[in-house]
Amino acid sequence: SLVRLSEYTAPDWRVSSVEMEVDLDIASSRIRTRLTVHGDTDRPLHLDGEDLELLELKLDGETLADAHYRKTDSGLEIDGVRNGSVIETLVRVKPAENTKLEGLYLSGAADTGFLLTQCEAEGFRRITFFPDRPDVLATYTVTLRADRARFPVLLAGGNPDGAGDLDDGRHWARFVDPHPKPCYLFALVAGRLQKISRAYRTADGRDVTLNLWAEAGAIEQCGYAMDALERAMRWDEQTYGRNYDLDVFHVVATHDFNMGAMENKGLNIFNAKYLLAAPDMSTDDEYRHVEAVVAHEYFHNWSGNRVTCRDWFQLSLKEGLTVFREQSFSADMNSAPIKRIEDVSLLRRAQFTEDAGPLSHPVRPSEYREINNFYTATVYEKGSELVRMIAGRLGAERFRKGMDLYFERHDGDAATLEDFLAALGEANGIDLTPYLAWYGQAGTPRLRALGEYDAAQRRYTLTLRQRTPATPGQPHKQPVPIPVRVALFDRGGAMLPLQLQGETEASGHERVLELDGVEGEFVFENVPAAPIPSLLRGFSAPVVLEHDYLPEDLATLLRADPDGFNRWAAGQQLSSRAFDALLAGDASSAALRAWCDGLASLFDDTELDPALLAELLMPAAEIELAERIEQDVDPDAVRAAREALLHHLAERIGGDRLESRFDALQSVASDDLDAASQARRRLKQAVLRLLHGVRPQAALQRADALHAQAGNMTDRLLALQMLLRGPQADAAASAFRQRHHAQPLAMDKWFAAQAQVAGAQTLDRVQALLHDDAFTLRNPNRVHALLGTFARSNPTGFHRADGAGYRFLTAKLAEIDALNPQVAARLATAFNGWHRLEPMRREAAHDALATLASGNDLSRDLADILQRALEG
Ligand code: ARG
Ligand code: ZN
Repeated sequence: SLVRLSEYTAPDWRVSSVEMEVDLDIASSRIRTRLTVHGDTDRPLHLDGEDLELLELKLDGETLADAHYRKTDSGLEIDGVRNGSVIETLVRVKPAENTKLEGLYLSGAADTGFLLTQCEAEGFRRITFFPDRPDVLATYTVTLRADRARFPVLLAGGNPDGAGDLDDGRHWARFVDPHPKPCYLFALVAGRLQKISRAYRTADGRDVTLNLWAEAGAIEQCGYAMDALERAMRWDEQTYGRNYDLDVFHVVATHDFNMGAMENKGLNIFNAKYLLAAPDMSTDDEYRHVEAVVAHEYFHNWSGNRVTCRDWFQLSLKEGLTVFREQSFSADMNSAPIKRIEDVSLLRRAQFTEDAGPLSHPVRPSEYREINNFYTATVYEKGSELVRMIAGRLGAERFRKGMDLYFERHDGDAATLEDFLAALGEANGIDLTPYLAWYGQAGTPRLRALGEYDAAQRRYTLTLRQRTPATPGQPHKQPVPIPVRVALFDRGGAMLPLQLQGETEASGHERVLELDGVEGEFVFENVPAAPIPSLLRGFSAPVVLEHDYLPEDLATLLRADPDGFNRWAAGQQLSSRAFDALLAGDASSAALRAWCDGLASLFDDTELDPALLAELLMPAAEIELAERIEQDVDPDAVRAAREALLHHLAERIGGDRLESRFDALQSVASDDLDAASQARRRLKQAVLRLLHGVRPQAALQRADALHAQAGNMTDRLLALQMLLRGPQADAAASAFRQRHHAQPLAMDKWFAAQAQVAGAQTLDRVQALLHDDAFTLRNPNRVHALLGTFARSNPTGFHRADGAGYRFLTAKLAEIDALNPQVAARLATAFNGWHRLEPMRREAAHDALATLASGNDLSRDLADILQRALEG
């Protein structure tokens, strides 16, 4: 059954208040719920419910006779409900048997673990009968009861409203959330948890207690997240004028979680991976992810909770906007150009590939079978790019003015993307409706730029043209507004002052050209000589740029652009072209030479941020480079060409320089988290990888020393990854395992590092690791670490020519699906590019997918992905 945006209708019945009494226990919990409902209709009241055992049902205090309601697969239909009626239900659920990790479930073992909930998108219906849709907003009063010794901590979202003891060693606690919310933001937690607390006063004067909760042994790893939370709260006050709105804010870490984290009102719940951090266990990247995700979930308090979504088609209204806010925050806390490089490379690696495959969909999809399958790079990452474009179009001041109006006008509402664009536009007298086209249209636009210099007129004409390739279900595309940030450079690498036709004099060095139709022409006057255009600066729009640059012009931008992001972008274009040539057997392309020469001369530049140099030294990932090939992709050939690229660069720089740079970085190594130390570690990774290509012995020796001595996880993991490619693989793996066997997050990296070793033989290793004591199909992090890494980050392993990787994964998918459909569906998207593979692999992948799809009892989640993947 397909849900369609065009068929949206407002709810017949609304719920003003929810009262819940929850008797918690591991095996069986009972939930009593009283709903006060409102409506002006004769239609029956529909309540969603799934896997619930109904024990009682009352309407206005009277037990309902069977004739007055119907129980269906998807819930209850109740007759005779009036405006102001109170519906009371009592249900039983079985948390310990809930392997889907949706609804109320157990994290950890039955004797030591704790209970928690995950509701977004449609998990509340697995806790109680309710109109489970985001446009039904209510206030919540929640009373929890449980055995005090087994569940000493009881938490729900909202302000605390009393607690006390009951008979039989049980106790209770009540929470009141005064802010109306949709049920997907409901949460509770119960168990043995420890906390760290901090007092926080908001800019508007509210005293708030911040509590971070984790199991014993992990609570010491919450300090970094607490600091990040405080930074995020201050930032949102200063940047958006948004203050926190309850007296207490809880954040809880669990190792059993389907997604990254969840913004439940007043009670965020996190995958431990994004909350816990410690030097011995976490890489620098992970520290930054913790900071970003803590901020993301906190920012949802306004962009998501106070203003929520009318329906799930509007998901990007909260996710795209919140990712944008999170990215801006991270850029402010860290290096802005490095952050932009990371975000754009993620977009290209995850979203561009998604958009080019059978699962391509618009940022606002028009239909879905299973909404959980739309928590995608498109809705999140491309959604953020759309907000960024609009913010750029308005400029900082007007964007803030627009956001103020949006929050004010829609506070307490379930809003749409139209509402968002209207508020931003109306606050500034600007019509932003043309941007709606971006939200409704899938596919990555191609932006073609043609430059022509007229020496006699001293005039440079830039012609921009757009075209979006067809995507499944959308054969014809409209033009979309594309802001193209440009600068012009002279051959010496200096930026030229700009004068567009119609302007009286030159001013500034950068312009944003707005392409709003299929084609546009932009004329620059008083240009002294044929310039080098720097296009799409800062990645001003999520498009693929096509421009016939001369390699030496890209080399000039790589060397001379004052903006780090643009240097990187120029380098990526060069290395990608060099890759194309190598793939075609051409090892003497001008692009390859320009790239290697350019980087060799930057290599010893002491002015250059080592973190930026590290980024410059690395070409795009194999999966992104494979996108450049129209048809018949051979992942082995892609890898060979990319390795050749690295080899040429390493040779050009020279083994001696690589060794001495690594040793110099290592000699000043510290385990601190400051930017300079992190940058040095990042550069060490790039240098060691290059060195491995030309002097494997020298690289492995250094990796061995690093593995033994490293006082931080970034270095130790780098060392492990290198050693796994050499003869000491087994020794290194067991040393790491021994050291970290008790740390789940470190063990995830141990599994991932082994799954990532390139080449066909890794399948055997992955199969063996399924039998490791520490492996379980029940834990999403573990599954993604081993199987997700193998399928997504090891193209030559997963796509081995005999198709064994495909058959292996689909067999595991069937097993996982029976436990946890969301995890299976997400993992299945690793097949995304199958239709562009060369014929043998294409057939093998197709057969594996078709066999899986023909099985019985597939979840809706997995069936939906398979159906779209096969049809697309
Ligand atoms: N809203 C969460 C976030 O911060 C993601 C929750 C996704 N849950 C799901 N079942 N798809 O991004
Ligand atoms: Zn989010």
